[in-house]
Amino acid sequence: MKVLFYAAKIYDKKSFGPVNEKFPEVQIEYIDHELEPRTASLAEGYDGICAFVSADVGAETLQILHDGGVKFVLMRCAGFNNVDVEKAKELGIVVKRVPGYSPESVAELAMGLALAVNRRLYKAYNKVRENDYTLKGLRGVNFYKKTAGIVGTGKIGAAMARICRGFGMRVIAYDVYENPSLKDFVEYVSLDELLAQSDLISLHCPLMDNTYHMINLESIKKMKDGVILVNTSRGALVDTDELIEGIRLNKFLGVGLDVYEEETGNVYEDRSDEIMAHSVTARLLSFPNVMITSHQGFYTMEALASIAETTLQNAMDAANGVSTGNDIA
Ligand code: NAI
Repeated sequence: MKVLFYAAKIYDKKSFGPVNEKFPEVQIEYIDHELEPRTASLAEGYDGICAFVSADVGAETLQILHDGGVKFVLMRCAGFNNVDVEKAKELGIVVKRVPGYSPESVAELAMGLALAVNRRLYKAYNKVRENDYTLKGLRGVNFYKKTAGIVGTGKIGAAMARICRGFGMRVIAYDVYENPSLKDFVEYVSLDELLAQSDLISLHCPLMDNTYHMINLESIKKMKDGVILVNTSRGALVDTDELIEGIRLNKFLGVGLDVYEEETGNVYEDRSDEIMAHSVTARLLSFPNVMITSHQGFYTMEALASIAETTLQNAMDAANGVSTGNDIA
């Protein structure tokens, strides 16, 4: 079977190459172009395509893929907010994803961001490089005995909850379902209680209509002063303009973001030589207590190997009409 692999980076080829040897039936062709309506017709004649977080897998793209004979879409990621699931079902295109490749890879980055903004590690690194050994601007707080609030306790949220427990934190959580594996040490509370009690809030729920902009000025005002907010889930969980207002109200000790609303178009691109016409990301970065990384939560050796393995197994399953827990449509 032939699979067209959109937006392929060197690291994709490195992680998929060796795993592909175990799945010789899958012939992969890698291209640089991102999947969007303009590029969807490139997949004409392929059985399936493989796409990532910044792809536009909306109705128009799916229709063009379908017209070109594409039968399945392999998302090489967990989130699928960029896929029009209903349209895929209507067209009979099978869509599969990699739901749980390495929750610790994202959770460990979430804690890394929390520590970095708390202790201003990005600032400290630059100060010492400049021969400035003063401590100005570096004072943080202990996490030990503080309260961590985890929003969404699926695979990644549960891993983050375990990490926070390891730091000696009290762990509270909000989710529409309780995760039984956490019952020994996590106390479930309402979202408002979580906002009011947490010293560290980490977002791990998916982006959906009812979670879009769940962090806004109203929810920020319910948080403790001096809270740390970390988002490694999806940028649009947070209303960026209102986050900026909250930062200006001095609400936050720190904000660590691996995902941000403007990331489409930026993610994994080198735009260092460009002049940005308008950028709320740049405005966010003007604050001393904000650190942004660009969607690198999944980027560990273990996670990449697991993504490649599951994606190619998904290709085999899609071609053989096998449904699994990885199906979105
Ligand atoms: P998961 O499906 O295992 O867990 C999501 C949890 O969120 C579930 O327990 C679900 O019940 C809960 N949830 C659903 N609606 C909710 C709501 N309205 N309020 C609170 N909780 C709600 O997903 P997983 O694997 O833990 O991934 C979480 C998110 O992390 C993904 O949706 C994805 O957007 C993001 N992600 C980010 C990566 C990165 O590189 N930064 C990599 C992988 C995933």
